[in-house]
Amino acid sequence: MYMKTNFPTEMFQNLQTPFYYYDTELLNRTLQSAMTEANRYGYHLHYAVKANANSRVLESIRAAGLGADCVSGGEIQAAVDAGFSADKIVFAGVGKADWEINLGLDKDIFCFNVESLPELQVIDALAAAKGRTACVALRVNPEVDAHTHAHITTGKKENKFGINLDQLDGVLDSLAGLPHVRLIGLHFHIGSQLLDLEPFRALCGRVRELQANLEKRGVQVENLNFGGGLGIDYAQPDAHPIPDFGTYFKIFHDNFPVQPHQQIHFEPGRSIVGQCGALISKVLYVKEGSEKRFVILDAGFTELIRPALYQASHAIQNLTSDKKEVIYDVVGPICESSDCFAKDIPLPETQRGDLIALRSAGAYGEIMASQYNCRQLPAAYFSDLL
Ligand SMILES: Cc1ncc(COP(=O)(O)O)c(C=O)c1O
Repeated sequence: MYMKTNFPTEMFQNLQTPFYYYDTELLNRTLQSAMTEANRYGYHLHYAVKANANSRVLESIRAAGLGADCVSGGEIQAAVDAGFSADKIVFAGVGKADWEINLGLDKDIFCFNVESLPELQVIDALAAAKGRTACVALRVNPEVDAHTHAHITTGKKENKFGINLDQLDGVLDSLAGLPHVRLIGLHFHIGSQLLDLEPFRALCGRVRELQANLEKRGVQVENLNFGGGLGIDYAQPDAHPIPDFGTYFKIFHDNFPVQPHQQIHFEPGRSIVGQCGALISKVLYVKEGSEKRFVILDAGFTELIRPALYQASHAIQNLTSDKKEVIYDVVGPICESSDCFAKDIPLPETQRGDLIALRSAGAYGEIMASQYNCRQLPAAYFSDLL
């Protein structure tokens, strides 16, 4: 059971809800753990900015020594603004617009993770126009099933991401005619919220095979980027506040022998920021339906869309009641039936004005907030600044 004292509930009473609350100390401890475990093997970490681009979160991550993995021009700019050095920025994404590629070229980022032949051709042309050569890694779809939710599986043949294995030779052949791109590596990302780590072992095997084939073609792979995907414990955030980075990196160490002069990269997102964030909301009404009791919050999918988007579940806590438990559906105020955080869950008996924490909202929470229903974007507060 979560210790309610871990949240400064008294202070929350004075703040307008809903808002995001970040535990700065937990973020820093998570970063320290990730860096310590990665440093054991000399691995390089690029934080996946898509998970949370709050400027203060980015600054902590940059200060801890990670680079940035970006999927848009806006993210490149956010990373630069937060002080990430360009030689630690990588740029992925299946649909990079010309202005975004140009921004990456102008900032002189470390690498473009390229997802198709047409994209490679455009990068070559835009780099040529600037008299530059762009460093690229090919994002290969390794056809490894991550066994995660269909909406966050990315490494299967039917997914839009990456270059399929059977097309890789053709893309490599084309490189000869593209003098303004320089191939510096391969990139993979098989999916997100993986708690069973077996697919990562399978990925290592696939990459070993692929590397052997490339070597036969005379291609040396200088950089290998295994993407992100390590999951977090949404059900019991306090039992596992920091993901097991040790076991995660060891899988790669044990299954992928690194060659001399080869650099290994990862792009963790959720595992870095997920557990340090909570969405704090107030109960507007408790509505007795004929079959259900509804707790209606002032936060909805506009502030945390994961349950509506991926049927994800977040631990929910009433911070201000310790009465006996009652079964509720916890819903938001948005005019959509999908605006439901949980069905039939036990909560201490709840009343109007109670403060509710939706836990593990640090990743894909604030960054996915929208103004649907003309709602305001909420504020974010940090534990060390309250
Ligand atoms: C290319 C790429 N890298 C890294 C990530 C981060 O994944 P996660 O937050 O699961 O670590 C994603 C997320 O979808 C991604 O698409």
